[in-house]
Amino acid sequence: MKLIRLFCLFLLVTLTVVNGAIDKMHYIVYMGQHSHPSSEFGISANHEMLASVLESHNVAKEAAIHHYTKSFRGFSAMLTPDQATRLSENEAVVSVFESRTNRLHTTNSWRFLGVDSIPQYNGLPMDIKSDVIVGVIDTGVWPESESFDDYGLGPVPTKFKGECAPGKNFTRSSCNRKIIGARYYSKGFEAVNGPLENSNLTFFRSARDSEGHGTHTSSTIAGSKVSNVGLYGLGSGTATGGVPNARLSIYKACWFDDCEDADILAAMDDAIHDGVDLISLSLGPLPPQPVYFQEAISIGAFHAFEKGIVVCASSGNSFLPRTATNVAPWILTVGASTMDREFPSYVLLGNLKQLKGFGVNTTPDQGKQYGLISGSAAAASGIPSRNASFCRKTTMDPILIKGKIVVCMLETLTDDRKEKAVAIKEGGGAGMILVDPLAKYVLFQSIVPSVLIGQAEAQELQSYMNTGKNLMARIFQTVTHVGTKPAPAMAIFSSKGPNIITPDIIKPDITAPGVNILAAWSPIATEKTAGNSIDYNIISGTSMSCPHVAAVATLLKSVHPNWSPAIIKSAIMTTATTTDNTQNFIRNDDSTAATPFDYGSGHVNPAAAVDPGLVYDFNADDIINLLCSTGASLAQLKNLTATPVYCRKPATPSYNFNYPSIGVANMAGSLSVYRTVTYIGNGPTVYYSKLQINGLKASVYPDVLRFSKSGEKTTYRIDFVPYKSSNGSFEFGSLMWSNNVHRVRSPIAVNVVSV
Ligand SMILES: *[C@@H]1O[C@H](CO)[C@@H](O)[C@H](O)[C@H]1NC(C)=O
Ligand SMILES: *[C@@H]1O[C@H](CO)[C@@H](O)[C@H](O)[C@H]1NC(C)=O
Ligand SMILES: *[C@@H]1O[C@H](CO)[C@@H](O)[C@H](O)[C@H]1NC(C)=O
Ligand SMILES: *[C@@H]1O[C@H](CO)[C@@H](O)[C@H](O)[C@H]1NC(C)=O
Ligand SMILES: *[C@@H]1O[C@H](CO)[C@@H](O)[C@H](O)[C@H]1NC(C)=O
Repeated sequence: MKLIRLFCLFLLVTLTVVNGAIDKMHYIVYMGQHSHPSSEFGISANHEMLASVLESHNVAKEAAIHHYTKSFRGFSAMLTPDQATRLSENEAVVSVFESRTNRLHTTNSWRFLGVDSIPQYNGLPMDIKSDVIVGVIDTGVWPESESFDDYGLGPVPTKFKGECAPGKNFTRSSCNRKIIGARYYSKGFEAVNGPLENSNLTFFRSARDSEGHGTHTSSTIAGSKVSNVGLYGLGSGTATGGVPNARLSIYKACWFDDCEDADILAAMDDAIHDGVDLISLSLGPLPPQPVYFQEAISIGAFHAFEKGIVVCASSGNSFLPRTATNVAPWILTVGASTMDREFPSYVLLGNLKQLKGFGVNTTPDQGKQYGLISGSAAAASGIPSRNASFCRKTTMDPILIKGKIVVCMLETLTDDRKEKAVAIKEGGGAGMILVDPLAKYVLFQSIVPSVLIGQAEAQELQSYMNTGKNLMARIFQTVTHVGTKPAPAMAIFSSKGPNIITPDIIKPDITAPGVNILAAWSPIATEKTAGNSIDYNIISGTSMSCPHVAAVATLLKSVHPNWSPAIIKSAIMTTATTTDNTQNFIRNDDSTAATPFDYGSGHVNPAAAVDPGLVYDFNADDIINLLCSTGASLAQLKNLTATPVYCRKPATPSYNFNYPSIGVANMAGSLSVYRTVTYIGNGPTVYYSKLQINGLKASVYPDVLRFSKSGEKTTYRIDFVPYKSSNGSFEFGSLMWSNNVHRVRSPIAVNVVSV
């Protein structure tokens, strides 16, 4: 059985220059070689030139930021795009381009999440920050990556009981003060698939990562700061994990793309014993989610929860409703969304229409004009044109595609994109334009210049191709746009709720950046990098969003070492945001408003999670009670707890489980839901409620909560009074408690089956 899979969308990659928003931006005005030896003259000439597009000399002086007067001439200044364009028309100007900054690339997701400016964390002493240990269950690690440099870290925390298991190309000295433990598990895999050697694929019988995935996820969580990294020499920036001082303990339980239950469970068992504070899993069962009692991640995570260890896991990349996995209430389940960065690669058609696509086109000779032909028009003899439209091997006539850019279609979403590029290259084609709904979600590293375009661009392209005459196109070098709007938006692939196992628990719990994330890579994993050996890679998936939330949980654990997994989960969920950078509600790929079944409580907000105000706590007994109320047998429960347990009688309904979000999957008439909040703060405070829900009446009692000191608990009740059936779908709403400083928000999802 190969039930468990890594949750990474394996199509890949790249980046460059910036472009941006409205208002003023920082531009560099480059004027080439020196012609004025005097720097003073240069500066005043710069002001002169600036003044020509600004109101006055004084405004020009204010706008100027840098003057380049030594080896070349130019300056930088805050300008509107319009002013920049006018400057670029000046004869003396060679080029005008927006100033690139370090916020690009890897750091970008942490900047987007505001992690750089959390005083509660940044103010902590180093020994506290470096005392937190994250267990990563994945494909292993590439220990020589600069991201795992242990510079500045003190001795391994004494609480750690793990080991650095030697193996193929991995010795005890492969570990250091950053990677403090490394183990690997292959017995489960080999029991099902035979010896690893039979695969004929590259692998290491050790914790060394031949896939790249585990190196990427673990460096996203706790990679050290590394400057000047990027991809193919483009867009260098500083790479860092979310908590660069935390320690990593690596558990390799995945081989190629598969992770066996048994290996995962062994890894979780060790991780719990080794003394990790947190476990991150960017993998999960293929949908549908199995019942908790027969599935390794749910079982292992329950034990971890009991021991005070937070478990984060990705929800999956299955696109559809009801496909979310890792949905046990004791797991923090993570969906994926975009951030404010894109890597467009433009195509200029012969009719001068420009198409915006995405790709990794980084060689300088790009922009050359080529003939354009569709795969279907290039069908080899005896091949139906529909078959040739997918550009598979041996379907196209090399004479027809030679020297041309070929337009290709996908037959299914899972088509092998690489095969198409190879077929075009082998046929002598010059490039590929692929119509692909995943265009903006996965950067494709290709052996021929390739641009992936969406449906709107495909129509534009089709109408040009319909003219039929002298078809031409150019593919331009890929650029990086930062500050794109709207962001975040839900990734089309992110697996969605409702939760098919415990429908009263909304899943996923949270969303985080999982589209085009740059992090460390295994240099021998070249399968998806067009054969190139690279140290940093950009990939997408809920596999990439999960480590972001794991890092936030790690950060909370550093600031609040005594917080239980349920409190950490609550803090992350109730502080999440539901609006994007255009102040609208977060949207889906199709522009519909996202719901709690897309993003759970919303987009992770680390700065707020550090100080949540109120939290919803629950313990292992509450979980047992929840499972009892949903019909678990004692034999099943024993699988989770490993000790005999008894169900409370009568069982509390599962919608009253003290979860930080509120779900009722089967509402037959009026019903009350209870929750208990714990106050975490200083001194007396008053929280006011704001309750909103579509399609039914609801009220909260009391609607004001008063607290005098930290640790106080209060129970409130929400009365739902439905007046019509919601006809099989869910109504959504939210309850927010606020004391004007903290906002403690719970999404609500209610399915009214009868009134
Ligand atoms: C692995 O070790 C062998 C020697 O045992 C060496 O030849 C090989 O280059 C190493 N591979 C890598 C990727 O480091
Ligand atoms: C591996 O290679 C051997 C010899 O070339 C071949 O017999 C075997 O079928 C291959 N196995 C797989 C899984 O491709
Ligand atoms: C307990 O777990 C094992 C292993 O996952 C599974 O085979 C078995 O069916 C489970 N028992 C029950 C009662 O669910
Ligand atoms: C064309 O594609 C169809 C369906 O995908 C397939 O059944 C058929 O064999 C293909 N024809 C040729 C000549 O390859
Ligand atoms: C209820 O749902 C069904 C099937 O989805 C739909 O055909 C019908 O129009 C819906 N009724 C109302 C009142 O919305």
